[in-house]
Amino acid sequence: MRNSQRTPLIQLINISKIYTMGDLVVKANDNLNLTIYSGEFVAILGKSGSGKSTVMNIIGALDIPTSGQYILNGHDVSKMKDDELAGIRNKMIGFIFQQYNLLPKQSLVENVELPLMYAGVKKSERRERALAALEKVGLLDKHKNKPKQLSGGQQQRVSIARALAGDPSLILADEPTGALDSKTTREVLGFLQQIHQEGSTIVMITHDNSVAVEAERIVRIQDGKIIFDGNTEKYKVEYNL
Ligand SMILES: Nc1ncnc2c1ncn2[C@@H]1O[C@H](COP(=O)(O)OP(=O)(O)OP(=O)(O)O)[C@@H](O)[C@H]1O
Ligand SMILES: [Mg+2]
Repeated sequence: MRNSQRTPLIQLINISKIYTMGDLVVKANDNLNLTIYSGEFVAILGKSGSGKSTVMNIIGALDIPTSGQYILNGHDVSKMKDDELAGIRNKMIGFIFQQYNLLPKQSLVENVELPLMYAGVKKSERRERALAALEKVGLLDKHKNKPKQLSGGQQQRVSIARALAGDPSLILADEPTGALDSKTTREVLGFLQQIHQEGSTIVMITHDNSVAVEAERIVRIQDGKIIFDGNTEKYKVEYNL
């Protein structure tokens, strides 16, 4: 199906986020327009301070914009209250963080179950889905282990399983390889590509060109504005990579 005939999963329309501190006004996001469809793997790329975390917080329903409209899967998120935002987050978004954010005292399967608990999935089904997600990332045999018994790359795979377990509409990854060495980075990126091929929609935030090019589309931001939006091959040509 052509893009124009599909309903977008994410639609940012004239989104701005403005911080005011005394006389200082910072346009952390400055009139962003961005449409992402189901099944895409998009990297949002930019230098430190360019506005990546700000836009990720908006896309992830963790924060609302100062102005503009954000439509997520048909819901207008831009004016939602905190409890409504939390509901949307639990139902629709799986998060992957740089520091994995696993609970150290809980086993792997308990960690993966946690978002399912917030989403109100009943106990027996939680366990089943968490084990299936761990199997998907190749860590079923370690499901009773604690996070610290794993390598960094394995811990990030657990956090990918946790993001997948709720069967979210969107996987949102914030610098998912930021804490990993280059070999493990390749492994985790390979993993994200695999779940993308299996149908997941992924938005990945990164400051690193070599990470961004593993996505199929790159959105580059600078000073809160989008300065490039296109497929990765075009990006490589334009930026001499
Ligand atoms: N809560 C806040 N109050 C005031 N200014 C903020 C706030 N959050 C972000 N900013 C400013 O908005 C701009 C964009 O910040 P943002 O955190 O989105 O950048 P980033 O691209 O994520 O950077 P990094 O790669 O360093 O994480 C920066 O100039 C930052 O100082
Ligand atoms: Mg940031």
